[in-house]
Amino acid sequence: MPTKIKSTVGWIGAGRMGYEMAGRLARGGADVLVWNRTKEKAEPLKKHGAKVADEVAELASRDIVFCMVSTWKDVKEVVGNLLKGKSKPKLLVECSSISLEGSAELREMLEKKGIQYLAAPVSGNAKVIKAGRLSFVCSGPRKSFEQALPFLKMIAPGASYVGEGELARIVKICHNVFLGVVTQSLAEITILAQKAGVPRHAFLEFMNQSVMGSTFTRYKAPAFVNLDFKVTFTPHLLRKDMDLGLDAGRRFEVPMPLASATRDLIQSMIGQGWTEQDFATLLLQQAEAAGIKLKPENVEVGDGLS
Ligand SMILES: NC(=O)c1ccc[n+]([C@@H]2O[C@H](COP(=O)([O-])OP(=O)(O)OC[C@H]3O[C@@H](n4cnc5c(N)ncnc54)[C@H](OP(=O)(O)O)[C@@H]3O)[C@@H](O)[C@H]2O)c1
Repeated sequence: MPTKIKSTVGWIGAGRMGYEMAGRLARGGADVLVWNRTKEKAEPLKKHGAKVADEVAELASRDIVFCMVSTWKDVKEVVGNLLKGKSKPKLLVECSSISLEGSAELREMLEKKGIQYLAAPVSGNAKVIKAGRLSFVCSGPRKSFEQALPFLKMIAPGASYVGEGELARIVKICHNVFLGVVTQSLAEITILAQKAGVPRHAFLEFMNQSVMGSTFTRYKAPAFVNLDFKVTFTPHLLRKDMDLGLDAGRRFEVPMPLASATRDLIQSMIGQGWTEQDFATLLLQQAEAAGIKLKPENVEVGDGLS
């Protein structure tokens, strides 16, 4: 039976992530009003029980508003428009991957208006959300976390509270720096094994069963083997996160040599015009650099999610 939760929810952003997250809330029985800049993308959420707004300001009278857009600049713009009228929500839960500085500015802006704020970025792509394996990392007042928790649990089984202020932002930035570096490293070793004569599916099958295999290496295996680069996460969004990591490294005086090299490899990929496919095209760039041309292996490979 769906859980009925009394608070009303507003949801900003029905992109790849926001759409699936809002869908889980609606299917869980929450009263959700969704706004997306491109309204048509939000419309199919109606079949899951969500309502769709024409203007973002309509969401201001909801108890809790979630936000899942792209960059800090976008968050600032939509939250500004959300709050341009007289109504205001009790709590804003911001899930986009943004900087510590942006998050602190948002907190200040919301505190001035008497709105509680929870920073709640996530780990996992849209398919991970569908598989019920997304996780949130949250920071801000503990009471805000507790207020949001029933809704967070409808979206994801994992919701970790890491402390006050913007701490969740640095955790998410560290996570995505690791995502970039691991993907580049996986591309390098996959191409090395292939050029030495090992088919990618055989190599990755072994890796994924080894102690080095992970949920992530498993769910990237079909893309690496069969060269299916339908977007889960764009190269531009990954570059944003590597830049956030390098900025944080400068701020806290921490050298990040691997992150730095990986950021430039993502930049090379974008510079060559590989922007519309998944960031896993790092594999194709690596193959080119190694002087080999890849073909799909057309082997059925599990992703560990479905
Ligand atoms: N994809 C992943 O695997 C993943 C995983 C974890 C975290 N994230 C983070 O989650 C966030 C969303 O990622 P995504 O992959 O869902 O991106 P996406 O598919 O590109 O969706 C972006 C969403 O933001 C909206 N948006 C962007 N700029 C806006 C603006 N100025 N005003 C109003 N709406 C705006 C877009 O509206 P339109 O539909 O009108 O363009 C769309 O709803 C990013 O911060 C990303 O780094 C992504």
